[in-house]
Amino acid sequence: MSDTEVLRERRLRVEAAWSSAEFDGPVLIPASLPIPIDGTDQFHEFHAHPEFQYLTGVAEPGAALAWEPGDGWTLFAPSLSVEDLVWMSAPPSADELAAETGVSRSVDRSELAGWLESRRGRGMALLGSRDVELRATEYGVESWSSLEAVVDEEATERLGKALAELRRAKDAVELDRMTRAVDAAVFGHLAAQRLARHGLTERALQIEMEAEFFRRGGARTAYGSIVGSGPNSAILHGTPGERVMSDGELVLIDAGAEIEGYASDVTRTFPVSAEFTGIQRDLYNVVLAAQQEAIAGAGPGVEYKSLHMQASATIAQGLVDAGILRGSVEELVAADAHALFFPHGLGHMLGLSTHDCAGYLEGRVPEDRFGLAYLRTDLPLAPGYVVTIEPGIYFVPALLTDPARRERYAEMVNWDVVDGLLDFGGIRIEDDVLITGDGCEVMSEALPKSADEIEAIRRDGLGAANG
Ligand code: GLY
Ligand code: MN
Ligand code: MN
Repeated sequence: MSDTEVLRERRLRVEAAWSSAEFDGPVLIPASLPIPIDGTDQFHEFHAHPEFQYLTGVAEPGAALAWEPGDGWTLFAPSLSVEDLVWMSAPPSADELAAETGVSRSVDRSELAGWLESRRGRGMALLGSRDVELRATEYGVESWSSLEAVVDEEATERLGKALAELRRAKDAVELDRMTRAVDAAVFGHLAAQRLARHGLTERALQIEMEAEFFRRGGARTAYGSIVGSGPNSAILHGTPGERVMSDGELVLIDAGAEIEGYASDVTRTFPVSAEFTGIQRDLYNVVLAAQQEAIAGAGPGVEYKSLHMQASATIAQGLVDAGILRGSVEELVAADAHALFFPHGLGHMLGLSTHDCAGYLEGRVPEDRFGLAYLRTDLPLAPGYVVTIEPGIYFVPALLTDPARRERYAEMVNWDVVDGLLDFGGIRIEDDVLITGDGCEVMSEALPKSADEIEAIRRDGLGAANG
C-alpha cells in the first residue's frame, strides 16, 4: 500500500469515529502558524499541530484541513506573496499537497474565508491549532469574530478524544517514520558512548550525538537532549552544560531524533571510565532487571500500570539488597518509599509527540500519590501502540535531604548510606517498544545495554582515542 493510501485509510477511520460521535457540523483543523522570534525577521522552528499532521501526513505552516459529513475533506494550502517569496522558500502548491496527502480537494487557502462564510452561524468543531481564533488574518480570514464562528466546545472535545484514541495504534507510515527516528537515535547514542572520556564536557557529547542524529536523517531532536554527568545525571530533564566529566562518574544521556514529525526517545547510562564501580554496577543491574522484566511483560491486553508496579517492586528489592531501603518490598512500595529513588513513571506513549496523546484510558486520571503522580500511561496495551519503558534509580539531593521525607521514611531508609551517595547521580535505561499481536518488539534494541556490553563500547571508544 502506498503512503497516500495509508493516509486515506487513516482518514476513513477518523470519519467513521467522528460519524459515530454524532456531530453533523463542520470540523476545522488548522496546522498552526509559525511563531515569530522577537528582534529578528525569522520564526521559531515550526511544529505542526499533531492532529493536523496525523490527518494529512504533512507539516505545512499556515495550512488548514476541514471536514464535514457529506462533504468530505478539504485542504487549504497556503501560498506566499511575491514580497514574501523574496525572503522565503515557496510552499508546496495545492496540487502538490493533494498528491502528497491524498486529499483530492486541495485548494488555495484564500478559499478558507468563503468556506467559513458559507457555514456562518453553524456550530463548528475546532481541532488542531486554535491560533486561528487570534490570528485569523494570517489564515486569510479577515476577522474571526465577524464570521460569528461558533465553536461547539463540547463537540470539539468529543471529536478530539475520538481522534486521540485512534492515534494510539500506529499504522505502517507512522511505524516507518518512527523506525527511522529510533535508528538515528541509536547511532547518535553510540557515537556519544564511544566519545565520552574524562575531561570532556556534557555539551561536547551533545554536539557529537546530535550531529549523528542529523546525519542519519533527523530533522531535529525530538526534545531537548538530556546529558548529565556525575550528580547532574540525577536531574531528570537536565540541560547539558559546560560541566566537565571525570573518571568514576556516570553519564546519563536521554535523547531522541525526530523524523517527519515522529519522535524517538532513548536513554542509556554509562561510566566515564571503561568500567562501572561496584555500586554503580549493582544499581545499574537493578534498573536493567526492572526494565527487562517490564519489556518481557509488555503485550496486548497488559495494563501498563501493572508493569510500573512490578518495576517499582524490583527497584525496591534492589535497594533493599544494596542496603539502602529496609523492610518488605510490599510495605515499601505501598508507602512509596521506592519513589524516593524512582520518582517518575515507567514511561509514556510515543509518536507525533514525545509524550504522545491519550496515555490515560477514558475515565482514568493520575493518582494523587507520590509513587504514581508522574505515571503518564494508564491503559491496557494493544497492538500498534508504541510506549517507552524507562525505569531509573536516582539520588536527587532535593528529595533526599527534605526534612519531611526524612521523617516520614525514618525507618524505611538507611539514611547513613544515602548520605554517602548524594552525589552518585542517577541511572535510567529507556527503550522504545512496539506492542505486537503476541508481545512486543524493542525498536531500539540495536543499542546495547548490558553492563558488559556498555563497558566493551567504552573500552573500545577509549582505546580508539588513545590508539
Ligand atoms: N525524554 C523525556 C522522557 O523520557 O520522557
Ligand atoms: Mn527520554
Ligand atoms: Mn521517555
